[in-house]
Amino acid sequence: MSTFPLNPLLRVEHLTMRFGGLVAINDLSFQAGRNDITALIGPNGAGKTTVFNCITGFYKPTEGMITLSHDDGGDFMLERMDDFRIARTAKVARTFQNIRLFSGMTVLENLMVAQHNTLMKASGFTLGGIFNAPGYKAAHRDAVDKARHWLETISLIDRADDPAGELPYGDQRRLEIARAMCTNPRLLCLDEPAAGLNPRESDLLNRLLLSIKNDHKIAILLIEHDMSVVMGISDHIVVLDYGQKIAQGTPDEVRNNHAVIRAYLGVEESEEDTVAEVEAIVEEAVHQPIEREQGAAPLGNEDLPVMTTGAVRSTARTAAKTATPARKPAARKTKPVAKKSARPVARKAARKTAKKGGRT
Ligand SMILES: Nc1ncnc2c1ncn2[C@@H]1O[C@H](COP(=O)(O)OP(=O)(O)O)[C@@H](O)[C@H]1O
Ligand SMILES: [Mg+2]
Repeated sequence: MSTFPLNPLLRVEHLTMRFGGLVAINDLSFQAGRNDITALIGPNGAGKTTVFNCITGFYKPTEGMITLSHDDGGDFMLERMDDFRIARTAKVARTFQNIRLFSGMTVLENLMVAQHNTLMKASGFTLGGIFNAPGYKAAHRDAVDKARHWLETISLIDRADDPAGELPYGDQRRLEIARAMCTNPRLLCLDEPAAGLNPRESDLLNRLLLSIKNDHKIAILLIEHDMSVVMGISDHIVVLDYGQKIAQGTPDEVRNNHAVIRAYLGVEESEEDTVAEVEAIVEEAVHQPIEREQGAAPLGNEDLPVMTTGAVRSTARTAAKTATPARKPAARKTKPVAKKSARPVARKAARKTAKKGGRT
């Protein structure tokens, strides 16, 4: 497994978030490297967005610590800070699972609004702006330059004066990221930025994220389901299932991890064990006639069918399906009760929220 970054930008330690009886995140610890793209993946309802909501101050965690260490050594304890301070002082920016642009404002105005804090300061909190003071004029010019830079980066400079809501979906997604970048973040948190994108748009997104990491030296925390994005650009991947970390490592390590495959394909641990167990028994039985032919006691039945490996597996699967619960391994019983009971509720609630098109 890959090791933790020595000097991480973000440290999440023993994070727990409960909503009444539902444990959305359960004792989660992970770190995000200073110059890395760290992906947070897992099935729907795993708790990914809740982690973002805790990092960005939208939720106050029930337990745990979230520390962001700036390059100059300054530490911010995010779990104790208000959301607007996390954005302004700790320099954490985010985008949401559902697009949240100001659709009636122009593309350029969306990027100017993101620089409101800087402009307000330069205006001396109103008067300098009203009288167009030189300090404010200079700050405004810088803000327009920054917006122009990002519009060029995402190839939307020609649409600067169009309403943001009229852009194609993929362009709106990239405009949101550009808007977040206009707040000068140190950590950029992106919640499913590739959702609904076609392969060409996903490719453009990949390039944009790599450029943010390599050219602007900004760390990215990425929630994503699109594996072409996750596996293509991530340095480190953390996998969540039912609020717990089930794996972490490089894309290669995570791709081949059994727990991850199980979580994504929905194969029960017990089912997998039973299949393997029955496969072994059937395979052993099939090889017995050969051993006997080589000198063991006569079997008295030369007409036993010869089974291919495929047939062995299929017999094993059928046998596994009909196996009695008594054959299932004792390890199943050690699963935490809270985790089991949270499952159906978590899934149902996630589906309900998704149907409504609301935040999850
Ligand atoms: N404000 C909330 N109140 C109650 N339950 C919530 C709230 N926010 C999230 N949850 C629940 O926490 C679980 C994890 O949700 P979420 O973090 O959105 O999952 P993911 O982003 O991995 O799909 C879900 O069961 C969800 O319904
Ligand atoms: Mg989510």
